This record gives sequence, structure tokens and C-alpha cells, in this order.
Amino acid sequence: MKFFIDTANLGEIREALEMGVVDGVTTNPTLISKEGMEFRALVTEICRLVDGPVSLEATSLEAEGMIKEARELAKIGDNVVIKIPMTEEGLKAVKRLSAEEISTNMTLVFSPSQALLAAKVGASYISPFVGRLDDISTGGMELVEQIVTILENYDFPTQVIVASIRHPLHVVEAALMGADIATIPFKVLKQLVKHPLTDIGVQRFLEDWAKVPKK
Ligand code: E4P
Repeated sequence: MKFFIDTANLGEIREALEMGVVDGVTTNPTLISKEGMEFRALVTEICRLVDGPVSLEATSLEAEGMIKEARELAKIGDNVVIKIPMTEEGLKAVKRLSAEEISTNMTLVFSPSQALLAAKVGASYISPFVGRLDDISTGGMELVEQIVTILENYDFPTQVIVASIRHPLHVVEAALMGADIATIPFKVLKQLVKHPLTDIGVQRFLEDWAKVPKK
């Protein structure tokens, strides 16, 4: 299972890379807007720091505009993946970008039918947003289970990125379901490490080690 980090913050990306568990990055316009940096400079630096895929979102509403943006963004680095929203125009754009061998991440996916369509037009990745579904009392992880089954039934090469993750259990459930990737906020990445018994254990060993006579 791959872990992407869901942030555009350079400090968080550097720290997560040092932890050695990050295989890629996802961004979106909201995450980019928090950084207060010129867009192209920021994403160029992210693509330089990270070896794996970096998702950058197209913001046009029409297929032609999305394709134009995608071609420009793809010039930033070999690892750029274009995030395209799950709309009719988005489907047209993904179909054409896939023919041009530009990697795509179909984003804002909230139903199994949307995922099936994204796979059919050749999306490299599909991002179901589990947290936003949970927020409206709908099972986000059930959607992931359905998407994984559909893709396996037909051997679609499209990979599932579990997105809009809110807590460590989302990551564990994604792993149990066999999702290819979880894109994880920095805070949740840190939470994955923690266990109170580990902290107590480290403290106890340190106290006992201090009692051992040493030369
Ligand atoms: C990732 O690709 C998404 O943009 C992100 O996970 C959305 O998360 P949010 O629902 O917390 O905004």
C-alpha cells in the first residue's frame, strides 16, 4: 500500500519524507491557497522534493480548458498527475489526456458509478472522498469497498486513492480493503505513529536503564 501526503506545505512534505513512509503528494486548490506562495514556484518545489506522483488540480470547468492546463502542468515534472473533477467535461478531458499518456487523478468521486466511469475513460487514479461522505452520515469506507470490487472484477488498471481521510482508522480500513493508496493529512500521519503503551514502554525502559551500573 502506498501513502501519499495530502498537503501543499513544504515543511510537512519534508518532514514526512524524512519519516520514510511517503510515496507521493496530493494537493488541491484549498491546500495550495493556505501556503501564500506563488503557485508555480510552490508546485515546482514540491515536484522537485518528491520522487513519486504529485497531483495538481486543473480548475477549468470545460474539457478544453482542463486539457490546456494539464499540458502546461505536466511540463513541471515527470511526476505530475493532473487532478480532474468528476464531471461530464472531466470525463472528456481524462479520455483525451489518457490518450496523450498524461497521468490523471479523477477527483471528487462520491459514488461507485462515478468510479466506474472514471476507470472506463482511463483515469490513472480515482479519489473517493471518504471524510466528506462521513460528514453527511454516509459510509465513506463502504464506497471504497465497492470501488475496489468493481475495479478488481474487470481488471481495470486504475488505482484507488482513499482521500479526505480524517483519522487513523480510515487508513487501517483502507489497507484492509486493499485500496492501492491512502492520501493522508500530516496530522493523521503523526497520529498513525502514536500508541500510549509505546510511550509508557519507552519511558519505563529509560527509567530502568538509568538504574543499570555503567563504567
Ligand atoms: C485529496 O486528493 C483531496 O483533495 C483531499 O483529501 C480532500 O480532503 P478534505 O475533504 O479534508 O478537504
